[in-house]
Amino acid sequence: MINRKRYCIANFKMNLGFQSGIMNYFSDLNNSSVRNNSSVGIIISPPFTVLNQSIALSEISKIDIDIAAQNVNDNDSGAFTGEVSVRMLADCGIGHVIVGHSERRAYFNESNKEINKKNQILIKSGITPIFCIGETLDQRQNNLTKITLKEQLTKGLNGTGNKEIIIAYEPVWAIGTGKTATSEMIIEAHQMIRNILNDIGFDGEKISILYGGSVNRNNAKELIGLEGVDGFLIGGASLDAKHFCDIYKFIEESV
Ligand code: PGA
Repeated sequence: MINRKRYCIANFKMNLGFQSGIMNYFSDLNNSSVRNNSSVGIIISPPFTVLNQSIALSEISKIDIDIAAQNVNDNDSGAFTGEVSVRMLADCGIGHVIVGHSERRAYFNESNKEINKKNQILIKSGITPIFCIGETLDQRQNNLTKITLKEQLTKGLNGTGNKEIIIAYEPVWAIGTGKTATSEMIIEAHQMIRNILNDIGFDGEKISILYGGSVNRNNAKELIGLEGVDGFLIGGASLDAKHFCDIYKFIEESV
């Protein structure tokens, strides 16, 4: 059996600035009983404005915490007001970037093509994409889950080579809604994703596939026990460091 790395990843979205939380967040993490386990990576994705401070705080933290960005522009540089390039993120010491989150697909019209470009430039720069995929409720109800995942994976990973990547399976209808997918749906989707990865030239058995969508400290223990689930991408519940630590502990116990 391959021991894939497990992850506990926080996505703060547009929450927690410097004054409004990051400092306290790191002190809560440091005061918790969480200590690193090399089999479980802890990654926090704060907004752009506090990436530098978060890196500085992570460097003096008792716990190994990687800092991820929530987005990147797919151009190298130039007249793109309000955008941030891969090189800028690399300069800050960012090792991971969330790509293709359903909120970016839905509210900022990100296409599979644009997402593919982001995956390509990140991988080229040695930054690991946390590549999000998932079906809408409509797609699930119309039996289009497999086709949707296949299209997102095939187009999103085209030309990236068999490089390091983390996949987050996030059914759109489960994000921020308090509705988690059922165990059967999650196991089935994770297996589907591994099969598709194998079909397109990746080694699906070696790639960590996380679940995301209303994960919290009440359901994390059960969800991490599901076959093929290698950790979580957590939105709402990650905003409270104590909840995030509790979820981390369930992942650690599952190793
Ligand atoms: P949620 O968000 O945990 O609040 O559902 C997950 C995500 O958007 O990554």
